[in-house]
Amino acid sequence: MAAFFCGYLSGISVLSNMKKRNGLFITFEGIDGCGKSTQAKKAFSLLKKEGYPVVLLREPGGTPVSEKIRKILLDRNLDINPEAELLLYEAARAQITAKKILPVLESNGIVICDRYYDSTIAYQGYGRKLDINFINRLNRVASYYTTPDITFVFDVNYQTSLSRRNKTPDRLEKEKQAFFNRVRKGFKELAGKRRIILLNGKKDIETLSEQVLTVVQKAVAGKKIKLAG
Ligand SMILES: Nc1ncnc2c1ncn2[C@@H]1O[C@H](COP(=O)(O)OP(=O)(O)OP(=O)(O)O)[C@@H](O)[C@H]1O
Ligand SMILES: [Mg+2]
Repeated sequence: MAAFFCGYLSGISVLSNMKKRNGLFITFEGIDGCGKSTQAKKAFSLLKKEGYPVVLLREPGGTPVSEKIRKILLDRNLDINPEAELLLYEAARAQITAKKILPVLESNGIVICDRYYDSTIAYQGYGRKLDINFINRLNRVASYYTTPDITFVFDVNYQTSLSRRNKTPDRLEKEKQAFFNRVRKGFKELAGKRRIILLNGKKDIETLSEQVLTVVQKAVAGKKIKLAG
C-alpha cells in the first residue's frame, strides 16, 4: 500500500511539472526484420519533404549515452542477465526521452521513433518472461509518462523475420524461434490498444507505406501541426 502511494505521488509530481506536449509521437514496432526501419524512414522522408518539423529516432539509441548503451545491448559476446537487460533499455529510454523526444513534442513537432516501450513489453515481458506490471511502471518512468499517439506494429512470422535479417545476428537476434514466437504474440496482444495499428508485414513495402501514410497524414492534420519555419 505504502509503495503504491509513493509511486502514485511521484507520478503526480512528474505530471505537475510537465510542459504541454502538443506534438505528434509515432512509433514503429515489431520483431526483427519486420520492416520497422523501412517504414519509419519513408514516413519521415514524406513529412520532411512536406515541410513539417519532424525527427527520426531509434531505440535504443538517439543520444550519445543511449548509443553507448545500444552497443552493450547488441553485443553478441556479452552475457547480460534479463533484469540488467531491462534496466539498460530503460536507462537508454529515459535519456532519449528527456534529451530528444520531449523537446520536440513540447515545441509541437513530430517524433518518429523506430521502436519504443512496446518493444520492452514484448521482448523483456513476453520474450524474457519478466513481470509485465513492473515493466509498465519502468516504462512510465523512462518515458516521463509519455504515450505514443500512434504505434504501427508490423506482424511477420519467424521465417520471414529470419529471411530479412543480416547474416551475423546480434545478441537479441541470436535467440531461438520460441523466443520470437512469444515476442510476436506479445506485440499482437498489445495491438488490442486503441493507439496501436497492426499491419500484415508480409505485404509489399509500397502497400504498407500507403497504409501508414494515410494514418499519419490524418493524425498530422488532427493535431494541427504547423509547417517548419
Ligand atoms: N514489406 C516488405 N517486404 C519485403 N521486404 C521488406 C519489407 N519491409 C522491409 N523489407 C526488407 O527487409 C529487410 C529488413 O527491413 P528493416 O530493416 O526495415 O526491418 P527492421 O524491422 O527495421 O529490422 P531490425 O529489427 O533488424 O532493425 C530490409 O532488407 C528491407 O528492405
Ligand atoms: Mg531496424
